[in-house]
Amino acid sequence: MEAEQLKGTQAKIKAFEAKKEALMSMGGEKMITKQHELGKLTARERLDLFFDKGTFQEVQLFVKHRSTLFGLDKKDINADGVITGFGKVNGRTVFTAAQDFTSSGGSLGEMHARKIWKIMDMALDARKPFVSMNDSGGARIQEGVPALDGYGGIFYRNTIGSGYIPQITAIMGPTAGGAVYSPALTDWVFMIKKTSYMYITGPDVIKAVIGEEVTHDDLGGAVAHATKSGVCHFATENDEDCINKLKLLLSYLPDSCHNPLPLVSCSDSPDRECPELDGIIPDKASRGYDMKMVVTAVADNHEIFEPHEMWAKNMLVAFIRIMGQTVGVIANNPKFGAGVLDVNASDKASRFIRFCDAFNIPLLTFSDVPGYMPGTKQEWSGIISHGAKLLHAYAEATVPKLTVVTRKDYGGAYIGMCSKYLGADYVMAWPSAEIAVMGAEGACNIIYRREIASAEDPAAKRAELVALYESQFNNPYFAANMGIIEEIIAPRDTRKRIATLLDALKDKAEVRLPKKHNNIPL
Ligand code: HXC
Repeated sequence: MEAEQLKGTQAKIKAFEAKKEALMSMGGEKMITKQHELGKLTARERLDLFFDKGTFQEVQLFVKHRSTLFGLDKKDINADGVITGFGKVNGRTVFTAAQDFTSSGGSLGEMHARKIWKIMDMALDARKPFVSMNDSGGARIQEGVPALDGYGGIFYRNTIGSGYIPQITAIMGPTAGGAVYSPALTDWVFMIKKTSYMYITGPDVIKAVIGEEVTHDDLGGAVAHATKSGVCHFATENDEDCINKLKLLLSYLPDSCHNPLPLVSCSDSPDRECPELDGIIPDKASRGYDMKMVVTAVADNHEIFEPHEMWAKNMLVAFIRIMGQTVGVIANNPKFGAGVLDVNASDKASRFIRFCDAFNIPLLTFSDVPGYMPGTKQEWSGIISHGAKLLHAYAEATVPKLTVVTRKDYGGAYIGMCSKYLGADYVMAWPSAEIAVMGAEGACNIIYRREIASAEDPAAKRAELVALYESQFNNPYFAANMGIIEEIIAPRDTRKRIATLLDALKDKAEVRLPKKHNNIPL
């Protein structure tokens, strides 16, 4: 009797294992080959690369769709086209949903969405990062409105989880229509050159509606979104590169807003001098230099990780570590457009600042900014509102905020780059700093217009007045005398000073007025 029972149980286990194996084969050999021919990995292969070996735990593999329309009653879709679960990435728990294009195009139906809801809810309850790997033809057309509602539930979770756990999307295939909005609601969007695209309406619709002709890639490929729209933060080369960079980003982030920042062991001394910075400011004020070299010089082991590398290059944002702990850097980059503030630069910096503040990442600002970009293009694009985002983001941030003025720091842009009264905890300036309402030439043209025009030698008079203005304002001493900057430092001491200050400010607690939430000028 017992032996017979055992036989029955073993048969059940065997049947279970066979079912499981069938489900795990996803869209089958033919579709997998097609996926590989497109230069893409399958969802399972991606998860194998992403998670530490043997740590991935799949959730809800047996979920099936329950749709009966348009022949779906006769169609099995393994795992309903999405693999959900959790595992360890470099030893830390991460939750994920990976759509599998080989199973009915990874199309999102009701149950597919419910699997994603479940894993997002688990991530939120567990207070761990959520990574979505998207490779899908979008809403499952045969299912109709339950599929659309599936997206609604994802957007809802993206939103209530915003600022609570880090949320990252990797676009690893097509993403069209409203499906683009979950990625846009997450903190970070990765794309893959040539094999991924995102758009609200595709090339065919665009041609039919407005007669414009454009390819998929030009319209919504990784390079388009990394250089033109700014929708993509990281344009990667292929699936492997994308997954490696996902892991790198995660290494800088805490599990949630309630967890400490990751601490990496650091052999780079906090006292390391950066003598290369003493010679970085060009003799001529009109010459640019690469602010990335400054950021790299001060960072632990000279390592920086830069989102939006190809978009709004006049503003640089980056994660670095100081004494092994994550710091968010915001810096004007005079190498591009003199480091001017414009609509895109303001948006790029504001979003980065808000992300860092949400996750308790201290802010380090390097300022070398001639002002806001003038002209109708910027005014009519709303530089007033976009620039205001930057002010709002800095002022509302309660993390430690350090500012280093390397050279120009003029006008409204001076205020906008985390000046003292916008809320910086500590402002430092290099001896090359110029802090004023505007540059000497422009200022003299306005305040000495009459004196210059009526002078015997207007050019000589102009030069004399410019020199006078420069001696007054083109240095950090006026601001230091007023206590507007705390310290003038030699460039070579910048890392040392930052390390000391971050250590001193690590327990900073700033309390804000009790209210529901701010109303950032979006
Ligand atoms: C159901 C879909 C599907 C979809 C793809 N498939 N997209 N099934 N609903 N949305 C299925 C195909 O029928 C096919 O099934 C399999 O996936 C592979 O698709 P192919 O077309 O053979 O692949 P390919 O030639 O590579 O073309 C990929 C594609 C194309 C460009 C993505 O599939 C496509 O245009 N799909 C529809 C895209 C779309 O318009 N989606 C709706 C967007 S609107 P079989 O059984 O043959 O293997 C939307 C609204 C969301 O998503 C709103 C949220 C608020």
